Amino acid sequence: MSFPETRLRRLRQSPAVRELVRETSLEPRHLVLPMFVREGLTEPSAIGSMPGVMQHSMDSLRSAAVEAAEAGVSGVMLFGVPAVRDATGSGADAPTGILNLATEALASEVGDALVVQTDLCLDEFTDHGHCGVLATDGPSTGSGTHVDNDATLERYTAMALAQARAGSQLLGLSGMMDGQVAAIRGALDAEGFTDTLLLAYSAKYASAFYGPFREAVDSQLKGDRRTYQMDPGNRREGVREAVVDEAEGADIVMVKPAMSFLDVLREVRDTVHIPVWAYQVSGEYAMIEAAAANGWIDRKAAVLESLLSIRRAGADAVLTYWATEAARWLRG
Ligand code: PBG
Repeated sequence: MSFPETRLRRLRQSPAVRELVRETSLEPRHLVLPMFVREGLTEPSAIGSMPGVMQHSMDSLRSAAVEAAEAGVSGVMLFGVPAVRDATGSGADAPTGILNLATEALASEVGDALVVQTDLCLDEFTDHGHCGVLATDGPSTGSGTHVDNDATLERYTAMALAQARAGSQLLGLSGMMDGQVAAIRGALDAEGFTDTLLLAYSAKYASAFYGPFREAVDSQLKGDRRTYQMDPGNRREGVREAVVDEAEGADIVMVKPAMSFLDVLREVRDTVHIPVWAYQVSGEYAMIEAAAANGWIDRKAAVLESLLSIRRAGADAVLTYWATEAARWLRG
């Protein structure tokens, strides 16, 4: 019998036919590797909740970035872990701050082979762990920690210039402050950095899946970021944030986390006209690693399926801690 579904099943009958009709591809060029570099380390240091991911020393950072480039990964996104923190995150824009020194090193080491990118947010550098400068007088209603948006923008523009001077080709605006794209674009252009790309973390949700990242950057955060990151229940709002950022001058927009927000990712992809990226965050990584370590899941298959699904939902590129390993698998 030939049922209507038989036509569809015929398309699965052999590897060659499946290749021919596959809708979504996953290639090394779609991957960006987030990396942590910690001030004062002489050897890389393991992150307990992210097996296989390291806080790097300068030397191990360089060699890991070279390996990523050799595997065909398109970019690295750098996060700095400073030795000293303060209320305004001074280490973020100091030319000798760890993130800026690491950026300089990678720009010369691998800057031609892949896109060297930097996280632009204060949370790793502040002693309170928030993404901005704290407000002294928050709104009289509501609760939670309030950041001083405009004072934070001044810190972000200083940070943007420091990163651009250090050789970052693409700034990842992950702080969720209002007007950050326009403010940073204006500051960069005024100093002649007209070619520095801006990735706006537009739809960044206040997510439980950032847990292991807090260990990775020794976060000092107490409480949560719900006064500036988005409510996980809000899909339309995520799309609006992306539309606003595109209008403000973002070159790329981001949805984060990836797997619990695939619907938002699809809708953003269908709405804006610039590249859309997704961040497969630390908790997504930890879940698959933990299940695989227990023998409950096929690690390689699960990793590749997760990345393919994020691509299918609409991501033009994916930030993933598996970038180098996945790129090697994909190259066979
Ligand atoms: C903040 C930032 C966070 C992550 C990337 N940038 C944490 C947060 O917003 O609390 C999380 C990434 C991950 O979990 O892998 N600058």
